[in-house]
Amino acid sequence: MYQREYEEAALCVLRSGWYVLGKEVEQFEREFAAYIGRKYCVGLNSGLDALIMSVRALGIGAGDEVIVQANTYIATVIGITENGATPVFVEPDEYFNMDAQRIEAAVTDRTKAILVTHLYGQASNMGKIMAVAQKHGIAVIEDCAQSHGACFDGKMTGTFGISGCFSFYPTKNLGAFGDAGAVVTDDEAFADMVRMMRNYGSRVRYYHEIEGLNSRLDELQASLLRVKLSHLDELNKERKALADCYNSGINNSKILKPQVQKGADSIYHQYVIRCRERDALLKYLAKNDIQTLIHYPVPPHLAQCYRYLGAKKGDYPIAEQYADEVLSLPIYTGMTAEEQAYVIEKINAF
Ligand SMILES: Cc1ncc(COP(=O)(O)O)c(C=O)c1O
Repeated sequence: MYQREYEEAALCVLRSGWYVLGKEVEQFEREFAAYIGRKYCVGLNSGLDALIMSVRALGIGAGDEVIVQANTYIATVIGITENGATPVFVEPDEYFNMDAQRIEAAVTDRTKAILVTHLYGQASNMGKIMAVAQKHGIAVIEDCAQSHGACFDGKMTGTFGISGCFSFYPTKNLGAFGDAGAVVTDDEAFADMVRMMRNYGSRVRYYHEIEGLNSRLDELQASLLRVKLSHLDELNKERKALADCYNSGINNSKILKPQVQKGADSIYHQYVIRCRERDALLKYLAKNDIQTLIHYPVPPHLAQCYRYLGAKKGDYPIAEQYADEVLSLPIYTGMTAEEQAYVIEKINAF
């Protein structure tokens, strides 16, 4: 899709002789900030870097706690622990997002931020989450790696907290042709700090104010992202149509279809069903040449890398149940009606 546009954009960069942090990055940052509806965008190397730097730019580190949902992707949690801070897990709601009702019980005098993931493409309950954050005077960081263009109450994800963290990993709704990410914010000082961090802590070349990182977005990815961004709304629309088709076509009492909460919408980064016999379903679909994925089979608190946090099985039963029951069905732009009808037919016959 859009092959000629991509080729022209890439060739233009290849011929320019300028490959890292240049005009394409600046232009993409302007266009993406405008699309999301924020003042600033800082292009980075990855979504993980966006999370790590957002937490760091808020001065959060050892001894501080950050509230995070228990069924998110591991990167969200690494964004916290990479800074030496402690993740405090909160169970998800029936929409797979952070259960806003449970946040307050997790707040302590060491809580510095709520890091909320809009999982699978659906906006979280930002009305309630912002209310809790404001009541306790804590920051909100949004992990928008899966929610490019999704809204809550008509407002884009990435515009609620001080920082919206985006991944442009190739499989994302707004995907590059390699690793890329960005932070969006309305806070000038925060944007300046992240901009400095991404380039070895310097504003002026070879003068280093802070110990920074190398997380620069390259020109090639930025130019390709500009092409894709110009088509993002139509791409998201196509996914929503595919999801509508699954919603009306799947009819099997063993399958729980994804629900969208009032006020939220979903760009269906994933179409995630639940099934008690998930592993049998996965095998059956694979036998019928239908590829599915589990997002995610192990919740972060049970991941081997986080044994040191001391959590055990049973601590977050809802997140654990989701890990045992969720299955992501094929959904991609360019999926044909026949391909989807075949998936629906096989699922209904399970
Ligand atoms: C929810 C979530 N957060 C963070 C990330 C990290 O993004 P990246 O792979 O670009 O580092 C991803 C994607 O992989 C993700 O799905």
